[in-house]
Amino acid sequence: MGRMTRREFLFLGAAVGATAAVGVVVPISITARDTVGVAGEGSSPGALVGVFRPERIASLADLEVGVPVTFDYPAPGQTNYLVKLAGPTATGQGPDEDLVAFSRICTHMGCLIDDYNAATATLGPCPCHFTTFDFAKDGGVILGQATQNLPRILLDVEDDDISATGVMRLIYGYNNTLLDVASVGSSA
Ligand code: FES
Repeated sequence: MGRMTRREFLFLGAAVGATAAVGVVVPISITARDTVGVAGEGSSPGALVGVFRPERIASLADLEVGVPVTFDYPAPGQTNYLVKLAGPTATGQGPDEDLVAFSRICTHMGCLIDDYNAATATLGPCPCHFTTFDFAKDGGVILGQATQNLPRILLDVEDDDISATGVMRLIYGYNNTLLDVASVGSSA
């Protein structure tokens, strides 16, 4: 399994610790062939982290600042953008903390968003109800109907290889990141 960044590791540790402290069972299970587990912070769905089989998604050397790379993860059809930002950000990953990856499926009603604006590091407006999300601020909502950040894809960078390893927050249409998910790589 690919490694999490130190930040993601600390987040998971805090989530498990907080959950255990209030006596709630942390749901760690294997319901899909390539799913490793999930940790949640109490009943907050926004804190859920699904950990899946790592999938290589891009070459670090091939990335250009502001040019999104499309990839599906953790399942076919669950499409995301990987972007190298112009500089480091609080949730950036990789050696320069400038790599981010988010779902392109709008958290309002599930419409697919294509338009990435490199100048503002934003995704949107969504073609359905105009929500725009900020890639430099953890996929947060700038304007529009959505109230939830975009699901963030956890990344692992080993030399030139960038891999997806998990998903933080729920993808639209799923009430549990683990359920009914067959990994992108499961048919290979
Ligand atoms: S589905 Fe995107 S704003 Fe409504």
